[in-house]
Amino acid sequence: MDRYDKPAMLDLPRIYDPRGNLTFIQHGDSNLPFDIERVYWTHDVPAGEERGGHSHHVGRELLVATSGSFNVNLFDGRNWQTYTLNRPYKGLYIPPGYWRTLDNFASGSVCMVLTSTRYSEDDYVRDFDEFMKISAGR
Ligand code: TYD
Repeated sequence: MDRYDKPAMLDLPRIYDPRGNLTFIQHGDSNLPFDIERVYWTHDVPAGEERGGHSHHVGRELLVATSGSFNVNLFDGRNWQTYTLNRPYKGLYIPPGYWRTLDNFASGSVCMVLTSTRYSEDDYVRDFDEFMKISAGR
């Protein structure tokens, strides 16, 4: 099993500058475990709302709190683990096969997601019982 089969909090490059700091991710960087095929972001999430509620068959994702703060709750079929994202220079890597919910959004938060696939509804598992069946068979 390679280390990218597990979720991981990745440190992204940081360029310190008195004018304001800068962080970047680029194709081919050694610590990014996939080629970036798509970027999307959620914003204007109302207080108390929850996002996510699905897993992916093959899609790999890196989540970054480019602004604000929120929790990412990951479930592998046995255990839940919660990660708080609140630094624009940290990325949470999520391999396929993890159910995720996002909650506790601070006002003004932006969740940027880099993914390894173009959008396809076929790659989603949105039914929790189906997810449990799939994870039991792994
Ligand atoms: P959804 O996956 O439910 O959002 P969340 O990240 O909270 O789980 O996506 C919401 C809607 O947006 C759904 O109709 C699918 C659509 N969508 C796209 O068209 N393209 C995309 O890249 C994504 C991520 C979602």
